[in-house]
Amino acid sequence: MDPLTLATVGESSMGGALKEGGTFAAHYRVVSSEADGGRRWVSFSSSTGFGGAALTFYEFGEDGRKLHETTHALENTSMVFVHDMLVSEHYYIVLLGPIDFDPKKFATQYVLSKCSIAECLVYDRNKPARVVLAPRPGRPSGKVLAPRSLPTDPCFAFHHVNAFEVRPGP
Ligand SMILES: [Fe+2]
Repeated sequence: MDPLTLATVGESSMGGALKEGGTFAAHYRVVSSEADGGRRWVSFSSSTGFGGAALTFYEFGEDGRKLHETTHALENTSMVFVHDMLVSEHYYIVLLGPIDFDPKKFATQYVLSKCSIAECLVYDRNKPARVVLAPRPGRPSGKVLAPRSLPTDPCFAFHHVNAFEVRPGP
């Protein structure tokens, strides 16, 4: 993107680090508390399909080199609508709201330009939201914690503020 005109200059795969034709999240995280004093740039892409949905997390060093690429399959999920993420010491964290896709509205209204793609999303307040904790590799502790999916009250948020881990007391 041209920094003055905001015109599109072209597409980049980050030197081949990203999959061809894949997506890349609008929001990334800069982790500045690494044990080696360095920073990490972390972001994600999502994939949706009849075979299931997944999130792929990318972690880059300060020199732009890709350090980790981790794909996390989402159980019982066929559609992903995630806009932002969080990072803690051992986890990539996303909030999956109870969002479904309305294929009928897509076929009968969106393709005829009668509604936006966002209007094809349906919020189901009868389903729980899930906080997904995907293990972060390459941590100084040497630990790769188990993936977790924590159901919670129905909710949705586009953006998040921060995440941290609390160690159990003595
Ligand atoms: Fe945003």
